[in-house]
Amino acid sequence: MAPIIQFKNVSKSFGINRVLGSMSLDIISGETLTIIGGSGSGKSVTLKLLLGLIMPDEGEIFFEGKKITMMSEEELVAMRAQIGMLFQGAALFDSLTVFENVAYPLMEHYNYPDEKVREIVAEKLELVGLPGIETMYPADLSGGMKKRVGLARAIATNPEVILYDEPTTGLDPANTNRINELILELQERLQVTSIVVTHDMASAFKVSNRLALLHNKKIEFVGTVEEIQRSRNQMVQNFIRGEIGET
Ligand SMILES: Nc1ncnc2c1ncn2[C@@H]1O[C@H](COP(=O)(O)OP(=O)(O)OP(=O)(O)O)[C@@H](O)[C@H]1O
Ligand SMILES: [Mg+2]
Repeated sequence: MAPIIQFKNVSKSFGINRVLGSMSLDIISGETLTIIGGSGSGKSVTLKLLLGLIMPDEGEIFFEGKKITMMSEEELVAMRAQIGMLFQGAALFDSLTVFENVAYPLMEHYNYPDEKVREIVAEKLELVGLPGIETMYPADLSGGMKKRVGLARAIATNPEVILYDEPTTGLDPANTNRINELILELQERLQVTSIVVTHDMASAFKVSNRLALLHNKKIEFVGTVEEIQRSRNQMVQNFIRGEIGET
C-alpha cells in the first residue's frame, strides 16, 4: 500500500544548527507510528514540517501523494483540516473557554451553523471523557484535562491523521493510561493514522504498530514493537533502556 505520508531526504537547519540531514520516513495509512529520540533530536520539527508550519531546506514531504513543499497557502490550510495536532504541552488558548478552544479549528476551516458547532464540540468532549465542561477556562483544568481538551480540539475536524507531541509527558499513571486508551480507540474506531512523539517507552510500546528512532539527524531504525525490542542496534537498545538524553 502506498504510504499516506512520506519524508524523502528531508534536511532542515536553523542557522548553523542542522537538525535533520537527508531524513526519510514512510507512514502507512491506518498505522500508529511512534517517533522516539533524544531531546532536541528534531521530533517536534518533524511534525511541524508535516503540517507545513516550517519548510524543509532540501528534500520532499508528501501527504496523500501531494508535495507539501509545492502547496499554496490555501492547499496547506485544507491539508491541515485533515491533520489534527495535539501540541507539546497542549497549547490551549488561555483566554478562550474550552468550547472556544475545541471549536477553533471548526471556525477556521468550515462555516457551520452554531448548532452544528455546539454538537461537534459536545461530541468530542464526550469522546475524551470530559462532557459538559464547555464553559470552563484552561486555568481551571488539571494537566490531564488540558491534554484531553487539546485532543478534543485536534479531532474536531475528524482528521485522517492525528499527530501527538508528547501526549503523556507530565501526566500521572491514570491520565497516561487514559490518553493511551484514547489513542488506541481513535485508531480502532475511526481508522485514523497517528504519529506519536514520546519519551515514554511504556506508552510507545502500548500504542504503536511501529516505532522509528530519530538519531543523528536521521531515522536510525524503524520497525514493529517486537523488532525494536529484539534489535541489536546499539542506539536502539541504549534508547529503550533510557540511556540517551540530549543529542
Ligand atoms: N523555530 C526554530 N528556530 C530555531 N531553532 C529551532 C526552531 N525549532 C526547533 N529548533 C531547534 O531544532 C532542534 C530540534 O528541536 P525539536 O523541538 O524538534 O526537538 P525535539 O526532538 O522535539 O526535543 P524535545 O524532546 O525536547 O521536545 C533544537 O535544537 C531546537 O532548538
Ligand atoms: Mg519536542
